[in-house]
Amino acid sequence: MSKFLPKLMTATALAATFSIPAFAEGFGLGRPALPEEITAWNLDISPNGDGLPVGSGSVEDGEMIFSENCAVCHGEFAEGVDNWPKLAGGDGTLADKDPLKTVGSYWPYLSTVYDYVRRSMPFGNAQTMSDDDVYAITAYILYSNYIVEDDFVLSNENFLDVDMPNADGFIIDDRPSSEYTIFTEENACYENCKDSVEITKRATVLDVTPDEAGTDQAAAEPAPEAAPVEVAVAEEAPVEAPVEAPAEVVTAAFDADLAAKGETVFKKCKACHQTGEGAKNKTGPILNGVFMAKVAHVDGFKYSNDMLGANEAGAVWDEAHLAEFLAKPKSVYSKTKMTFAGLKKDSEIAAVIEYLKSVSQ
Ligand code: HEC
Ligand code: HEC
Repeated sequence: MSKFLPKLMTATALAATFSIPAFAEGFGLGRPALPEEITAWNLDISPNGDGLPVGSGSVEDGEMIFSENCAVCHGEFAEGVDNWPKLAGGDGTLADKDPLKTVGSYWPYLSTVYDYVRRSMPFGNAQTMSDDDVYAITAYILYSNYIVEDDFVLSNENFLDVDMPNADGFIIDDRPSSEYTIFTEENACYENCKDSVEITKRATVLDVTPDEAGTDQAAAEPAPEAAPVEVAVAEEAPVEAPVEAPAEVVTAAFDADLAAKGETVFKKCKACHQTGEGAKNKTGPILNGVFMAKVAHVDGFKYSNDMLGANEAGAVWDEAHLAEFLAKPKSVYSKTKMTFAGLKKDSEIAAVIEYLKSVSQ
């Protein structure tokens, strides 16, 4: 509820900053704002009434104005239509799990109602109401919350006399002086602490914890000792793609180094896809053998209709098709169940495809 936080920089403070001649001169830009310009721009109304325009409005007028301008969203009685904000009700619910915070139950200052409505309502047509209209509307919102009677007239003169039900519900945060001083090293009362902490698992699968060497660096140039496992797999991999593949996609020979980089990239896929021995379908299908296989290649996996359709049409995961899919899955299969934004770098795509070849023997 930023409405109730102190503004870090009020219009006045801003003006002070910019009216320092040295500041303006230093950059040789603009000129200090004139007091009239600041007044026109500064609509702030303070809890103590500062900034309130002279004027008044009755509950009776407010009811009409509210009905015409606000009720479509906030309801005839400020009770809220559908999910539009409720401006009335909710008394005694603040301590509930699901409190109803309204002008009546929650807002500590009436000035916020006036300020907020004058500044930003009606939604989509802000600052079209006269000051008197806003007094009338504010009076009507008070009436809807049973805070005033139906013959009430609100004005700049009696504005501060209105008692807001939750006026005392906010406290000044005095923790820096009352509490922080107590929570010092000496006073801390930790017990049974472990002597040391050992990291047993890392969230690399989700790409939360970067590799020690840094994932990107590793992808770009894996340390020689990082590669052996994949090289072994790679050497057994077929150098040529299956015969039924169209000639132009039977591309250059398998690149073991690139596949090793691809395995690093594949960490981004591991949350959903398994490869290798004992792989199981998870959120996504097993990817063993996917290279040059028909789209939707795992029997029994619940693919999207998009992919099943492509399967029937005979589409194959060749290099080009994998590349466009991995760059932006939804641009190829708009209803795909693979909720993955895509790989941004061409080098990553090439590497991961090479890795998929290595698990596709
Ligand atoms: C088109 C729908 C619409 C109309 C018309 C409209 N409002 Fe709103 N009102 C909203 C929405 C949406 C919000 C919430 C805005 C936000 O949180 O940024 C809101 C918020 C408010 C709030 C603050 C509620 C809270 O608890 O945070 C008040 C007070 C309010 N409107 C008063 C009025 C008044 C008075 C009028 C008529 C002059 C009016 N509104 C017209 C949609 C509307
Ligand atoms: C959030 C989970 C998720 C992530 C992450 C993910 N996938 Fe998928 N993937 C899926 C799902 C689900 C499908 C099935 C899509 C469908 O049915 O439309 C799929 C399908 C595929 C297919 C087609 C398989 C087939 O049998 O036709 C390939 C290839 C693929 N993913 C590769 C990758 C690669 C490579 C990555 C990492 C760069 C990746 N996926 C990341 C969930 C994911």
